[in-house]
Amino acid sequence: IFASISQAPADPILGLVSRFKADPAKKKVNLSVGAYRTEEGKPWILPSVAEAEKMVVNDTTQDKEYQPIDGKPEYKRPVQELIFNGDIIDSGCIATVQALSGTGSLQCIAQFLKFMGVTKVWCPNPTWGNHPKIFQRALLECDTYPYWHQEKRGLDFDGMMAGIEKMKEGECILLHAVAHNPTGVDPTPDQWQKIVAACKARKLIPLLDNAYQGYASGELAKDGYSQQLFTQSGMEFFIAQSFAKNFGLYGERIGYIHVRCASKDAADAVLSQMKIIVRQAYSSPPQHGAAIVNKVLTTPALKEMWLKELTFMSNRIIDMRVALRKAIEAKGTPGTWNHVTDQIGMFTFTGLSKDQVMRMVEEFHIYMTGDGRISMAGLNPGNVEYVADSIDKAVRG
Ligand code: LMR
Repeated sequence: IFASISQAPADPILGLVSRFKADPAKKKVNLSVGAYRTEEGKPWILPSVAEAEKMVVNDTTQDKEYQPIDGKPEYKRPVQELIFNGDIIDSGCIATVQALSGTGSLQCIAQFLKFMGVTKVWCPNPTWGNHPKIFQRALLECDTYPYWHQEKRGLDFDGMMAGIEKMKEGECILLHAVAHNPTGVDPTPDQWQKIVAACKARKLIPLLDNAYQGYASGELAKDGYSQQLFTQSGMEFFIAQSFAKNFGLYGERIGYIHVRCASKDAADAVLSQMKIIVRQAYSSPPQHGAAIVNKVLTTPALKEMWLKELTFMSNRIIDMRVALRKAIEAKGTPGTWNHVTDQIGMFTFTGLSKDQVMRMVEEFHIYMTGDGRISMAGLNPGNVEYVADSIDKAVRG
């Protein structure tokens, strides 16, 4: 029966993590997956999360029953408040559903778009590799709009606006809410205003992938700017909110879908349909990660700790940007390297070619994605010089 099944290629991001683990080289660096690491290169359980987890585990009033299909109702407001103001939450216009982190949220939204009769989703070029696959799996057509300007090593804003002008009413546009993955390049506040106005004028359905709120500036409100603008515009739109990176809860698969609707009636109807998608896909969401997030967000001392931890993580990454750029420039490596410090969030889009990337992986055992993206969180004072040296060698060829 299965003899005709061919071997699938390894995942372009998670497959690299397995290769890194299996690599016997003494000197190796994992800059592949977007996951925070300490100065010692270790995964980090946030102290606020560890504290909340203890409280959750010791809470004898909790059981292991199924959660509601859309997650516990009392957990919704604290996560909505990370994005929306109180008035809009009170209006009942937001349909919120606990889902399986960012990917799981996007998966349900994709199915919902299909159910609504949407035919096409536009993704930035480039985007996170999983985006088009998720939409294609839901039998949606997926196309791209310009985003990255190779010569400028920055945002191709004019190209992006021209791309939006080509989109048709009722088509979906995927936008990275903050800290674009893989480029680390975001529109300025002024550019965001123009993007929102263009989406509204063309009557598009925006979908904001919010996977890195807090990682760009260390501040939730500042990193929530694009979401605020879309909310103020009065448009109806989707948000996929992940807590993998900003709570460090990668393996707990915790996130939320928010659908901002024009009325409470519409939000109630959307919620009822989204619940059908969830029920058929995985029945109901896991409770452990959701309980931890809720405990952090509803315990003032823990929330304060968490906000400080977010700033700490984003500052460490900024320090690594400075260190990497300095080390590369000190070597006189051909090219310009200001993009290393100009870019934001977890990633740097190095501009290394496919062949150079291959050398980084094969020869220097520095694991990075094929498009030249490196996770800055994988850098630390102990490996930054080695990485700079290897980039220098790869560029000089
Ligand atoms: C990444 O881009 O590295 C992360 O979003 C992890 C993933 O699932 O790909």
